[in-house]
Amino acid sequence: MMTELGPIICVVGARPNFMKMAPILRAMAAHTPPLPVLLVHTGQHYDKDMSDRLFEDLRLPRPDVNLEVGSATHAVQTAEVMRRFEPILDAHKPSCVVVVGDVNSTLACSLVAVKKGVPVAHIEAGLRSYDRAMPEEINRILTDQISDRLYLTERTAQDNLAREGIPAERVSFVGNVMIDSVVFGRANAPKAQSTLQAHKVDPKFLDHPAGYGVVTLHRPSNVDDADTLRALLGVLSEVAADLPLVFALHPRTRSNIDRFGLSDLIDPARMVMLPPQGYLDMLGLMAGATVVLTDSGGLQEETTALGVPCLTLRENTERPITVEQGTNILVGRDRSAILAAMQDILGGRGKRGRVPEFWDGRAAERIAADMHAWLTSLPFVSR
Ligand code: UD1
Repeated sequence: MMTELGPIICVVGARPNFMKMAPILRAMAAHTPPLPVLLVHTGQHYDKDMSDRLFEDLRLPRPDVNLEVGSATHAVQTAEVMRRFEPILDAHKPSCVVVVGDVNSTLACSLVAVKKGVPVAHIEAGLRSYDRAMPEEINRILTDQISDRLYLTERTAQDNLAREGIPAERVSFVGNVMIDSVVFGRANAPKAQSTLQAHKVDPKFLDHPAGYGVVTLHRPSNVDDADTLRALLGVLSEVAADLPLVFALHPRTRSNIDRFGLSDLIDPARMVMLPPQGYLDMLGLMAGATVVLTDSGGLQEETTALGVPCLTLRENTERPITVEQGTNILVGRDRSAILAAMQDILGGRGKRGRVPEFWDGRAAERIAADMHAWLTSLPFVSR
């Protein structure tokens, strides 16, 4: 039966893809019958911190194919993924291509597949920030338009898709695979103290009556402009006066801090700078934190699942359920909003939320079941 299916080509490219794909691969292997998979890494992220370490932590198998595209402008990176992905489809005759999230590799591989008549399934479909200055928003809109099967993490995404004319029959609300990885990794996540020690930072840094905060920043809108980044680091220094902060620094942000000469804004007695963290270390850092300050999409969801207050340093979010039901507050780059929210958190009045529907660790199982039913219903698939 399913053994006659061509492989399901599962695509990962950049860091936020890995924690979404890992549970899907496990669920496909555990499905009856097992679903045949070919894992393709585009190489959009390539170094140890941004890629290999996460593969280990998430127990992702080695990719069957690595396209090794590396970093470049959006156009060059997207074009290069497309150019290198096409022969993979020719060689393997897949039954479908599965893409996750909203990075350049997501769009590039969907576009190649759809033009060759290969069905596309998009996981984490329908999220919208309604901010087209975000490269991810363009990737989300276009990928959804050309996908054949769309899996949702939250029900409001259905309204976004309906507005864009995507028929409801293509859409399935399955929950959040990102949280499958949180559930999977939680028990093995090290304590923040040991993560600091591993980076030769005295773990006493965390011995503060108010605990500690975790910071990540990497959105081009926050870190690519010198004045914006300077102002943000200034507010974070004020936050650090009351609460020690642990930064996990994205390479883009680290290089911009150096390039703009902003390292003087970082007081090492109050702010610890770490390289990008592995999945489990990051989970451990977040789980023990008093607050997370971030512009990441994934961290907004993970903090909601962990019940840790999150201040999102953006004006909008494509994940509104984290604000409506979870622990997330949008504070933008507004100094007074950030400091007021911090006062609430340090005063024990931090936002408490609940874990949204189907953020239960079993989203990938629902995807595998739906995918099997969907693929076997397609007219051209031999059964
Ligand atoms: C990409 C995604 C973004 C995601 C983010 C997570 C797009 C449009 N953006 O942005 O949605 O939130 O990943 O990290 O797809 N670099 C390294 N090592 C690496 C990869 C990158 O040092 O393994 C450096 C390079 O200098 C590169 C810079 O980081 O130029 C930015 O990487 P890039 O993949 O272009 O974008 P991200 O900002 O990481």
